[in-house]
Amino acid sequence: MKLVAEFVTSVFSIEGCPRWNRAEVALAGRSNVGKSSLLNALTGIKGLARTSKTPGRTQSINLFAVGESLALADLPGYGYAKMPDAIANRIAASMSEYLRERKNLAGLVMLIDARRGPGREELELAEIIRQRELTLIVAATKCDKLKRSERGKAVAAFASLGIEPILCSATDGEGIEELRKRILRIAE
Ligand code: GTP
Ligand code: MG
Repeated sequence: MKLVAEFVTSVFSIEGCPRWNRAEVALAGRSNVGKSSLLNALTGIKGLARTSKTPGRTQSINLFAVGESLALADLPGYGYAKMPDAIANRIAASMSEYLRERKNLAGLVMLIDARRGPGREELELAEIIRQRELTLIVAATKCDKLKRSERGKAVAAFASLGIEPILCSATDGEGIEELRKRILRIAE
């Protein structure tokens, strides 16, 4: 089953967010981790969210309506060293505001490169979500790039979050159905 989704709006702060009753599930993670690609894989619509080889592609919060009661938020990535400070600071501020204050936010899919594992930023994000008692799903992305022998070690690196990641690949589709199910459960 695909998620029937359509782009609604692109905003820089929650002030610009739609007033609706949809439960929002945000995709967050480092720049270039594969957020927009994963959103496209989840919806089955190539090019719905813009992807890029160069980090820093998504700089605003892009909202997509899904079905009757859900929305997905494609968030800008963090941690891209070459981004000018002024832009990076603005992005960090809008993300922080959205994650801490957006009333409609029901859950977060935190994307972490399967080869990299969680870092300080991810632990901070997880803490915000825990404090708000929202649902946290961890997606280990680009797992098509892991050798078979590396998979166990990759999963173990996530134990620090106390959460089992879903191994995902937007390229070969691994984990996408499981992720879709978990997201839909949030809106139930
Ligand atoms: P920003 O918007 O810049 O934060 O990036 P993003 O997290 O939205 O990443 P995006 O989806 O634009 O993907 C970044 C790059 O990673 C692109 O070159 C994608 O083709 C590649 N990529 C995304 N998902 C996968 C995956 O599952 N496997 C592999 N091998 N490459 C992927
Ligand atoms: Mg993006």
